[in-house]
Amino acid sequence: MSTPEPARRRAAQLREQIEYHNRRYYQLDSPLISDAEYDALMQELLALERQYPELATPDSPTQRVGAPPVKAFGTVRHEIPMLSLDNAFADQDVVDFARRIAQRLGHHDLAFVVEPKLDGLAVSLFYEGGVLTCGATRGDGHTGEDITRNVRTIRPIPLRLQGTGWPERFEVRGEVFMAKREFQALNAWALDHGEKPFANPRNAAAGSLRQLDPRITATRRLDFYCYGYGLYPDQDLPETQSALMDQFRSWGLPVNPELRVVTGVDGCLAYYRDLLARRHALPYEIDGVVYKLDRLAERSALGSAARAPRWALAHKFPAEEATTRVLAIEVQVGRTGALTPVARLEPVFVGGATITNATLHNADEIRRKDIRVGDTVIVRRAGDVIPEVVKSLPELRPATAPPFEMPKHCPVCGAEAEAADGEAIIRCSGGLYCPAQHREAIKHFASRRAMDIDGLGDKLVDRLLEQGLIKTVADLYRLTVERLAELDRMGPKSAQNLVGALEKSKHTTLARFLYALGIREVGEVTAQALARHFRHLDRLQAATEEELQAVPDVGPSVARHIHTFFRQAHNREVIQALLAAGVHWDPPPPAAALPLEGKTLVITGTLESLTREEAKARLEALGAKVTNSVSKHTDYLIVGADPGSKLAKAQALGVEIVDEEGFWRLLAGAGASKSG
Ligand code: IVH
Repeated sequence: MSTPEPARRRAAQLREQIEYHNRRYYQLDSPLISDAEYDALMQELLALERQYPELATPDSPTQRVGAPPVKAFGTVRHEIPMLSLDNAFADQDVVDFARRIAQRLGHHDLAFVVEPKLDGLAVSLFYEGGVLTCGATRGDGHTGEDITRNVRTIRPIPLRLQGTGWPERFEVRGEVFMAKREFQALNAWALDHGEKPFANPRNAAAGSLRQLDPRITATRRLDFYCYGYGLYPDQDLPETQSALMDQFRSWGLPVNPELRVVTGVDGCLAYYRDLLARRHALPYEIDGVVYKLDRLAERSALGSAARAPRWALAHKFPAEEATTRVLAIEVQVGRTGALTPVARLEPVFVGGATITNATLHNADEIRRKDIRVGDTVIVRRAGDVIPEVVKSLPELRPATAPPFEMPKHCPVCGAEAEAADGEAIIRCSGGLYCPAQHREAIKHFASRRAMDIDGLGDKLVDRLLEQGLIKTVADLYRLTVERLAELDRMGPKSAQNLVGALEKSKHTTLARFLYALGIREVGEVTAQALARHFRHLDRLQAATEEELQAVPDVGPSVARHIHTFFRQAHNREVIQALLAAGVHWDPPPPAAALPLEGKTLVITGTLESLTREEAKARLEALGAKVTNSVSKHTDYLIVGADPGSKLAKAQALGVEIVDEEGFWRLLAGAGASKSG
């Protein structure tokens, strides 16, 4: 029985709609319908195709949900080999590369297409009559695996090209990869379901693409950018790579928006530096940048060596992962008593620095990753993030290495160490009697966002404690220039400065003082809320747990911590001593008098007249809540120079946007808009 005409027409209509919404989502980044509405269109088309199998063409968007599994992949021969790239690690390598090219071509006027080097997998795609007919992996460069059915599930890859002018048959090459967010979501899901997480987005992309069951690939939201061509009719090629990429884009093939055309070595290196600085802000991982000669005729003149073309170069970023050995696992005690295991490592150069320690987070994490003393491990240092152990390589483990166990007692004070119900964190129960917690509490007290004692850093706190000059934070205010001068390496000038800074810190705010006390779970925001609500320290100290819970953001657990803190005699004594030493503040104005009470603000970009922290402090002083992300609850977004993605989000949500001038008007209590 042939397919009735109305079914045929409806299928065509659905296909067109689905492809349209796909483009809105993947190319224009502005979806018009919800995921559920999209799914409904897809389900209707699937039902039609099930009823009339003739309708299920290879370019139907239903192919994106994944065909049934196969036993093994077929093979695909690459008529034009898929080559690799030569690597550069230093600027000099790039200089040499350009010099070689200039010599061979006999001129120095070199234009390069430059773009990020994506950390994924190379694929080859064939389009015939504008329809995707074959997808293959690189394999050994000559023969790859036929992954057509998997590639069809990757949404940004068009199943049918848009526009006009494409050759009857041609091959696109590009990189399949997994965005960071997708990778994190996939790993979170794996952990929840007792499965092994992937070590990095590259492995996740490879594992997802090379699935014998394309229905699994379909659930993984892989991504794709094209960067070149393979088999392509000579007469259809434009003069430059950049023009070809423009064509690809117009046919609906995704091209990296970071692609640029630059001139000479200087252009290449400037691009490299720019991307290196922005590397962590990109939504996907990259391991360098690629430079490609723009003019295709010049490429042919240069040709290829065995492994890689002479006209392209990958300039690698410093590796963020390296292999080293765990020499010991030590346990550190934090301010709140949390025991944090730290791996002492054989020194290794990674992410541009030599590291000797990496955090292991907590006992659960060590157990999950099965990290033992003596293990060979992969460590990662990305940007300014604390180095961490990604995984151990148990195949290289010494036969005698026992699994690591967290201590039952605090390694510093010997008090019992225990996990609160349902918490992964094990804590020392010694409180301020534990020298480690005590030391961290003093450092916190002095820190910039607490009492802001300029010049009293971690090392100096250690020395003051070691040499017995202080026992509690109140002792800080009894230090004199003469006593300080007794410390080794402390000159009279530094001693004078420190005493001056201590004196200055005595004039503070109630919120800062509360934050400085280091009460469990009382961060800056809670401290602000407490100060605003109670206004006087003695009222707060006398409050019951119920009264504490009347403060915004204070739940039962925070209320209990605060209540317990003020019931302890030694805490009360220290507070008394601090007040007696002259620590003071002006009482915050009554809550109702605050002009920005109940308003939520976000700051983005760089303000000219003051730092973001200063701006935040000023807004909070007027009762505003300043948060980090824009939501529909945000009242104002304050925008400085070079704003981030928050601006677009605020615009989309209709949040009121205020420039620096408007910010000062807000502070002056005149409202944000000029007229108001
Ligand atoms: S151009 C002749 N551009 O890097 C090869 N490759 O190390 C031309 N890669 O196999 C490749 N991002 O899988 C090119 N923007 C990019 C790339 C890129 C990632 C991969 C590609 C290649 C590997 C070589």
